[in-house]
Amino acid sequence: MAQRRSLAVPYGAPVLAISFLACVATGLELSVNNHAADFTLSTELGPPISLSCLVHNSSQDEELLWYRGDGQVDLKDGNKVNISNVCISPVNESDNGVTFSCRLARDKSVQVSVILDIQFPPRLSGEETLHVEEDKDVTLTCNSKSNPQAYGIWYKDNHTLTLQQSRHELYQTSEIFRLSIKKVQKSDNGTYTCMMQSLLGSGTRDFYLIVEDKKPVFPKEAIIAAVVVVAIIVFFGIVARRDKFFKVW
Ligand SMILES: *[C@@H]1O[C@H](CO)[C@@H](O)[C@H](O)[C@H]1NC(C)=O
Ligand SMILES: *[C@@H]1O[C@H](CO)[C@@H](O)[C@H](O)[C@H]1NC(C)=O
Ligand SMILES: *[C@@H]1O[C@H](CO)[C@@H](O)[C@H](O)[C@H]1NC(C)=O
Ligand SMILES: *[C@@H]1O[C@H](CO)[C@@H](O)[C@H](O)[C@H]1NC(C)=O
Ligand SMILES: *[C@@H]1O[C@H](CO)[C@@H](O)[C@H](O)[C@H]1NC(C)=O
Repeated sequence: MAQRRSLAVPYGAPVLAISFLACVATGLELSVNNHAADFTLSTELGPPISLSCLVHNSSQDEELLWYRGDGQVDLKDGNKVNISNVCISPVNESDNGVTFSCRLARDKSVQVSVILDIQFPPRLSGEETLHVEEDKDVTLTCNSKSNPQAYGIWYKDNHTLTLQQSRHELYQTSEIFRLSIKKVQKSDNGTYTCMMQSLLGSGTRDFYLIVEDKKPVFPKEAIIAAVVVVAIIVFFGIVARRDKFFKVW
C-alpha cells in the first residue's frame, strides 16, 4: 500500500501541471448564436432551429463538438473547425427541455449551452367508449402534454362535472390528466369530455361511459363443492362395482 502511494505522487504532479497549462492555453471563448453564456431559446413547433457556434480570439484551428444532452452529435468535416452549425428540423415536442452544448474539443470545460423551450398547445382529440359494470372502478385518462402547461377540466354531458369527494379523484402531471371514478353507479353513465386549455389553444377528448348491469357473481365455492361430491360418488360407485365384478369372477 505504502509503495503504491509513493508511486502515485510523482504521477499526480505532471497531470496537474498539464491541465493547468491547458487552461491557460485555451483562454478562448465560444459563442452560440451570439450568446457567450448559456441561454434558453424559446420557439414554437415547426420552423427549424439553427445553432451556430463560433470560437473567438483563437490563434490556431480549434475543433468544436456539439452535444444533444449527453450524446455527441455527428458533424460533417468542414463543420468542425472554428465554426460549427447544427440544425434541428423539424422541431418537435420531444425537443422541449433538451440542452444542446457546443464545446471546445481540447478543453470541454469551454462550452456554451442552449436549453430549448419548445412551446406547443395541448394535443388531444378523438373519442373512446368504455363499458364498465356497476360497482366497479373506472379511469379516464387524457394526454395533457403541452408547453406552457395546460389547465384541465372535466365535463359530463356538456356540464362541468361536479366532483364527489368520496368517489371522484383527479390526477394531473405534465403528461396526463386523469379522472377516476370509484364504485360506478348507473347515474355515472354518460359522455365525459376532458378539455385541456393553454394560452396556445385547447383540445378535447370524449369518453362514452356505458354503465352495465352487474353480472351475477360466479359461485366458485359452490362449484368446487359440487365437483368434490361428484368425485366421491363416482369413486364409491367404482369401488362397489369392482366388488361385484370380483364376486362374479
Ligand atoms: C478578442 O480580442 C479582442 C482584441 O483583439 C478583444 O478586444 C476582445 O475582448 C477579445 N475577446 C475575447 C472573448 O477574449
Ligand atoms: C481558424 O482560426 C484560426 C485563428 O483565427 C486561423 O488561423 C485558422 O486558419 C482558422 N481555420 C479555419 C479552417 O478557418
Ligand atoms: C421528433 O423528431 C425526431 C427526429 O427529428 C424523431 O426521432 C422523433 O420520433 C420525433 N418525435 C415525435 C414525438 O414526433
Ligand atoms: C353537447 O353539445 C354538443 C354541441 O352543442 C352536442 O352536439 C352534443 O349532443 C351535446 N352532448 C350531450 C351529451 O348533451
Ligand atoms: C349512457 O351513456 C352513453 C354515452 O353518453 C349514451 O349513449 C347512452 O344513451 C347512455 N345510456 C343511458 C341508459 O343513459
